[in-house]
Amino acid sequence: MRDPSGRSIRYLRLSLTQACPMRCIYCRPAIHNPPHRRNLLTCDEIEQLVRHLIFRHGLRKLRLTGGEPSARPELIEIIERTARLPLADLAMTTNGLTLARDARRLKDAGLKRVNVSLDSLAPRQFAQLTGVDALPRVIDGIHEAIAVGLKVKLNTVVVRGSNDQELSDLLTFAASLNLEIRFIELMPMGPLAGQWLDRYVPEAAMRKALANVVNEFIPLSTGSEAARRYRCNLVAGGETTVGFITAMSHPFCDACDRIRISADGGFYPCLMDAPAGNLMSAIRPFAPDRLDELLRAGLAHKAPMHPASGHSPMIQLGG
Ligand code: 5AD
Ligand code: SF4
Repeated sequence: MRDPSGRSIRYLRLSLTQACPMRCIYCRPAIHNPPHRRNLLTCDEIEQLVRHLIFRHGLRKLRLTGGEPSARPELIEIIERTARLPLADLAMTTNGLTLARDARRLKDAGLKRVNVSLDSLAPRQFAQLTGVDALPRVIDGIHEAIAVGLKVKLNTVVVRGSNDQELSDLLTFAASLNLEIRFIELMPMGPLAGQWLDRYVPEAAMRKALANVVNEFIPLSTGSEAARRYRCNLVAGGETTVGFITAMSHPFCDACDRIRISADGGFYPCLMDAPAGNLMSAIRPFAPDRLDELLRAGLAHKAPMHPASGHSPMIQLGG
């Protein structure tokens, strides 16, 4: 599957639900009405859709997102069923709240990797950013995910005036567990869109803020990865890898190989753009040729670069 700019699409980020027990200040609007359950893709429909994308369109990687994917009661079944398909990667983005309890089951179901959001190591700041006083629970979840053999990365959305003073602590914490951490530039979408200029921290400023713990950033080649990754020599000795997701200062649109589908079948060729239709009419009941038509028509709207500001809050797509 190719888009009008010639980029091949090999990566689906599939949102399983818009529900989430957290309310991160940059993600979830005060008023948010998730779609009704009956309008969500079922396990059967998800399997059928993913099969179709693999066998007709060469899909290779799948990431499950939300809202919070673990808020979807059928999560384990969805993982079991997609894990049997020939995919090179099966990953999930999570807020980490349920990992201490569920990491083993996720791993046994066939999940390979989790990206866990960790915005602060200070309990009160964590609670302010996420709306839930649960830092220890998320830390336990990270340890459990490592213990059961999931590959773990940490994700931090950097917000000036909230957690921008903590980047060194977060990097040191990640390095102590041998984990890669990715610092994410705030994107002008969702509740902080109106304050974006005041709250956004570009990669260059983040690297400066890390200078007290990192001697040198050695760029790593990235390929189709969204993150700009560096090998870091640490002031305290030793090395670690850090990534910056720089959608705003260094957009990676040229290398974009992804599409997104929301829990109710919305087709989003770009994270920041409006949906290009809804696939449900070709999924329920399943109509493969009609689905191809909708995919083709939607992909025609995938712009060479993302728009200046986002169309929907992130909670609808989960990043
Ligand atoms: N800018 C950047 N990243 C965001 N996320 C949510 N909202 C934003 C935003 N405005 C990220 C979260 C998580 C995923 C759900 O999306 O950190 O990684
Ligand atoms: Fe929930 Fe993740 Fe959005 Fe936070 S960023 S409100 S944890 S979906």
